[in-house]
Amino acid sequence: MADINIAPEVLDIEKKGFLDRAIDPAMDLFAAIERLKKEKNAVVLAHYYQEADIQDVADYIGDSLGLAQQAEKTSADMIVFAGVHFMAETAKILNPGKKVVLPDLKAGCSLADSAPAPLFRQFREKHPDHVVISYINCTAEIKALSDIICTSGNAEKIIESVPADQPIIFAPDKNLGAYLNKKTGRNMVLWNGACMVHEIFSLEKITRLKVRHPEAKLIAHPECEDPLLRIADFIGSTTQLLKFTQQDAGSDYIVATETGILHQMQKASPQKNFIPAPPDNSCACNDCPHMKLNTLEKLYLCMEYELPEILMDEELRIAAKKPIERMLDISRAAGLIG
Ligand code: 13P
Ligand code: SF4
Repeated sequence: MADINIAPEVLDIEKKGFLDRAIDPAMDLFAAIERLKKEKNAVVLAHYYQEADIQDVADYIGDSLGLAQQAEKTSADMIVFAGVHFMAETAKILNPGKKVVLPDLKAGCSLADSAPAPLFRQFREKHPDHVVISYINCTAEIKALSDIICTSGNAEKIIESVPADQPIIFAPDKNLGAYLNKKTGRNMVLWNGACMVHEIFSLEKITRLKVRHPEAKLIAHPECEDPLLRIADFIGSTTQLLKFTQQDAGSDYIVATETGILHQMQKASPQKNFIPAPPDNSCACNDCPHMKLNTLEKLYLCMEYELPEILMDEELRIAAKKPIERMLDISRAAGLIG
């Protein structure tokens, strides 16, 4: 993963193998985390793709848009971000006075990695008259090179806020970009990036599942490829998928996104049946290897030692903040967030 500041103390902790040895296996981690939250005035923000235990200790669980908003408005002294690096970085960009810690600093994102800043700068220079809309799953450097940020929960509204005759570059997710081109009728120039998790669903296995469960609805995240999205009954961000399963009259769902979301779906609708869409390998469900680097143990340790901490260059932070603020302003005006 590129462009990550690792504090010297963290390297030292990792060198000593401290992370592996520090926890008494008899410790009640749930109670210890609750104690640390109070002692340190800390808030735990978790993405839906985190393991179930982490979701269960979180103060807020959400999609990228909800998490950014929570990070912006929290009054806690420390934001413990149970997600991946670009999410914790976004929290620091929006609320620099807070200490932001991430349980595992190596929790990156294949989509963010697919857009290295020097190459993206050249790409942008080739299209000088284009407005740049970047999906939030990108580094701070890419955000700083963008005009507006979007998430899967607000992308359509963000695109609609740009005049119809204004050419747009959309980065870094080509699948989400292609889906949005279809939805909005635009012809955005797409950066060639993708998410490793959403690209490996097996259409063949999903089709077989649909035959075995004819009553099941296929619900999918727009980071999935077009052939899968074409057969989906509902497409949306993680929060939108969760809401759909709560409000829909059906009872069975094949879920084409990272499996962590099934925990909240099952909790909200215990009587319903959720089947993870299988990937094109020998696994039955699809975990994001980056998201799943975070564990309850690492969450506890990062709260106890307040490390690893997200540190940012101030000039970069200010440049990256502008397009995120535009996104939040447009989302507020559209009534997508409060
Ligand atoms: P949302 O939760 O915003 O839908 O994003 C999904 C994702 O891939 C996050 O990494
Ligand atoms: Fe990145 Fe995909 Fe993992 Fe989300 S699921 S963090 S987009 S690799």
